[in-house]
Amino acid sequence: MTFIEWVDRIVTGFDEVDNQHKKWISILNELYVAMKLGKSQEIIDKVLNEFHSYTIYHFSTEERYMKKYGYPKFVEHKGQHDNFTAKIKDFMKRRARGEATLSIELMNFLKDWLINHIITKDKEMCAFFLQKMGDTEKGKVL
Ligand SMILES: [Fe+2]
Ligand SMILES: [Fe+2]
Repeated sequence: MTFIEWVDRIVTGFDEVDNQHKKWISILNELYVAMKLGKSQEIIDKVLNEFHSYTIYHFSTEERYMKKYGYPKFVEHKGQHDNFTAKIKDFMKRRARGEATLSIELMNFLKDWLINHIITKDKEMCAFFLQKMGDTEKGKVL
């Protein structure tokens, strides 16, 4: 019962980011299983909190590298991160008030956002990081 598979087209080639994406996807898979198996609200809360925390941690890692390497699309990329984090936070608040429940629609939204963001934004960003790292190794000034 794997919701998201780790496939070649989402590999960025930048190890730290790829390893975090694997962990991030594994938490989302865990959330899917908890929902499918009808686990208790406490367990779903725990996994949802973990997904939220890990999302913040992962985005902060990417943003740190973007600053370090002077990534020209930082503002646009961070804007997507902030938007996504706000959506998760908003869902969690509505869920706490009993106005929303975890659904397949929400799971699909999270999955589609994550895959689409990795393919359209992270891969381009990581290619830039790898290029910058190559320049550093060759002794060029950043
Ligand atoms: Fe990103
Ligand atoms: Fe990412």
